[in-house]
Amino acid sequence: MKYLDDLLGKQESLAWCGDLHVPVSGIEFDSRKIRKNNCYVSIRGFLKDGFAYVSEAIGNGAGAVVSVHPPPQNHHQVTWVQVKNDRRALSAIANRFFDDPSRQLQAIGVTGTNGKTTTTGLIQALLNSEAKTAAIGTLGMNFPGFDQGTKLTTPEAPELFAFMAKAVKADCVNLVMEVSSVALSLGRVDDVSFAQAVFTSFSGDHLDFHQTLENYFDAKLSLFKRLGSEHWAIINCDDASGAPIIRELNCRYLTFGFSEQADIRPLKYAFSLDGVKAVLQTPRGKIDIQSRLLGRFNLLNILAAVGSALVKGVAVEKISTALAAFAPVKGRVNIAHAGDFVVVVDYAHTDDALENLLKSFREITRGRLILVFGAGGSRDKTKRPRMAQVAGRYADWVVVTSDNPRQEDPQAIIADIVSGFAAGFTSFNTESDRRTAIEKALDMAAKGDVVLIAGKGHEDYQIFRERTVHFDDFEVVREKMGASHA
Ligand SMILES: Nc1ncnc2c1ncn2[C@@H]1O[C@H](COP(=O)(O)OP(=O)(O)O)[C@@H](O)[C@H]1O
Ligand SMILES: [Mg+2]
Repeated sequence: MKYLDDLLGKQESLAWCGDLHVPVSGIEFDSRKIRKNNCYVSIRGFLKDGFAYVSEAIGNGAGAVVSVHPPPQNHHQVTWVQVKNDRRALSAIANRFFDDPSRQLQAIGVTGTNGKTTTTGLIQALLNSEAKTAAIGTLGMNFPGFDQGTKLTTPEAPELFAFMAKAVKADCVNLVMEVSSVALSLGRVDDVSFAQAVFTSFSGDHLDFHQTLENYFDAKLSLFKRLGSEHWAIINCDDASGAPIIRELNCRYLTFGFSEQADIRPLKYAFSLDGVKAVLQTPRGKIDIQSRLLGRFNLLNILAAVGSALVKGVAVEKISTALAAFAPVKGRVNIAHAGDFVVVVDYAHTDDALENLLKSFREITRGRLILVFGAGGSRDKTKRPRMAQVAGRYADWVVVTSDNPRQEDPQAIIADIVSGFAAGFTSFNTESDRRTAIEKALDMAAKGDVVLIAGKGHEDYQIFRERTVHFDDFEVVREKMGASHA
């Protein structure tokens, strides 16, 4: 049994009342999930202050309350600890409750605007060829023999550390996790000790949260600054943000990219609709690789994963074999149909990702490149016209449609996008119904063409103001292509 006094950091608590030596059976910040003797950490969220739910938590059996607020007058129901920072306290308490699990694993953090999920999946596959490796990210939390979904790319501390403890118990040696910039700014991974950090790419996204590019960059940088001399960083040196990160490092590092000075770079490469073949130059000599992943940027993700595996000491042959066997991550540049023309579903939902996707397919498409995309509502609006700019630059035809409109009017989002097309650009149509938009694009496609359906990837829902409905790009393609073959 754990006790509250063992879980509290000395510097964290400002004041308390009641007995600190109370048993703690779990940590929760959601009052509805509280069970007997759980510690309720009340968090000031973006919408609500958990303080309002203290009585509900106590009613559900909470044995202790941790909050930035002092105990109310005459409070003597349960132990109450007042802390300086609620989120920091949540993370620290949960970490101690689960016995500091990241220290019992070799943890690798993957950050960047794009490429986190794919690179995380690749690293896990490469490391799994030598030792059991757990992964956390957009696609959930898993290790061989265990799989669990998550709502957030980087889950909140109690969920995060509970999973890590489970991975330790199941004899996992490594952990690779996507670390979003939002999670870094909120301190959600402050108590995770990383042995390695990987930087994939950087461009303007999440500005709705971070306000400025500097804040956003500093959030990412914080993952690298904390690495010590025994640790490793793996850095994309093709990206303009690579050098500023390297300047701040106190650890060893490897660079990757197409540029000549990269430690890991392709000497020769060929992209096709079947994937990529390349010969890589690495600090451990040349490696021949082959992968079913499509597109130039996926070669960058592969380089990152190879770097990560090399510093972990994975044998070169194992790296090649695991790469060849690696199936595309769900919703990331997946071929949804291949016949006279090819249909690809991808999660690109930033101008940077869209540009990379389009450039990659421009290289391997013989016919026309037809793009279907929209932009999410109630999120960063500045990227909408920028997405149109890159769409107009690289695609032969663009169908502008809806993504997840959320609280906004779908037509207004489409208008924001269309405003970004260059004056005189007419190779597009708008269709707010995503199913109809995809169907129109497929009707248009001819032999040799590629239809790119971007933005939603693995998602099987569409979020509107009033409701969330089932929607799956893959399914729409299957149904339409099935119907037209019949
Ligand atoms: N290294 C990369 N650089 C730029 N864009 C990328 C890269 N890797 C993937 N992308 C694009 O970004 C989208 C999201 O990729 P994903 O691996 O899910 O990254 P994240 O987890 O960071 O969102 C992909 O569908 C692809 O279009
Ligand atoms: Mg992700």
